[in-house]
Amino acid sequence: MNDSAMLRTTVMQKSVVAITGLVMVLFLIAHLSGNLLVFAGPDAINSYAAGLRDVSALLWTARIVLLASLVLHVYFTVRLRQLSREARPIQYRMQRYEASTFASRTMLISGLVIFSYVAFHLAHFTWGKIYPQYYAATYFLDGRGPVHDVYSMVVRSFQEWWISALYIVAVTFVMIHLVHATQSALQTLGIYHKRYVHSIRKASIALAIVLWVGYVLIPLASLTRILKPLT
Ligand code: HEM
Repeated sequence: MNDSAMLRTTVMQKSVVAITGLVMVLFLIAHLSGNLLVFAGPDAINSYAAGLRDVSALLWTARIVLLASLVLHVYFTVRLRQLSREARPIQYRMQRYEASTFASRTMLISGLVIFSYVAFHLAHFTWGKIYPQYYAATYFLDGRGPVHDVYSMVVRSFQEWWISALYIVAVTFVMIHLVHATQSALQTLGIYHKRYVHSIRKASIALAIVLWVGYVLIPLASLTRILKPLT
């Protein structure tokens, strides 16, 4: 491949990684907004979950977009690493860390941890394989009848300390990944200017902190019984 073709391929692949990453950030914001309904009680979160099932065409479209984003994101990240190795056959003898941050150096490891976590999370809450007895709970919604009791499933699961610990660690990795990812994606897409470097950095750290606090509140509130199980 000549230099200009290589550059075009790299820019195209980086753009895909950036756009699919931003799609997943939007999902994280939407997912947290839905999950926080657990604090409004079982009626609120269970009718929200049942409502999502009612708009199944929309739900499945969102799932397909999310899955496609994940696959493309991982695939092109791997391709980009290969391209940069091929372009630099002799490895650096010394790693230079001055210009990089902890988050940027650990993108691959945090990405792998998140990937494993998502697989566990789907087995846990979507397929009900980790604690089937909590997944099996049903709830009677006024004017609708019995629905999946997402409230009890979430609260009871997080009262198992190891589940809470695992989620808190995983969410921490997600947020470390996100701090670098948001800045890097905006840079790739050209939404970046020297004057705003510090503001963009602060905004991506602020977003990661807000999301981290939101996600971690749910296991912590369940462990401390601020969120109480129904039976
Ligand atoms: C305290 C933290 C979290 C809670 C309480 C939570 C809760 C849930 C629940 C209840 C579901 C099942 C929805 C259903 O099938 O009815 C779900 C699905 C899902 N969650 Fe989470 N989640 C948390 C964190 C995360 C994080 C950090 C990520 C991403 C890194 C994530 C990604 C997903 C995905 C991809 C699905 C599948 C969506 C679908 O197929 O409908 N979740 N989550």
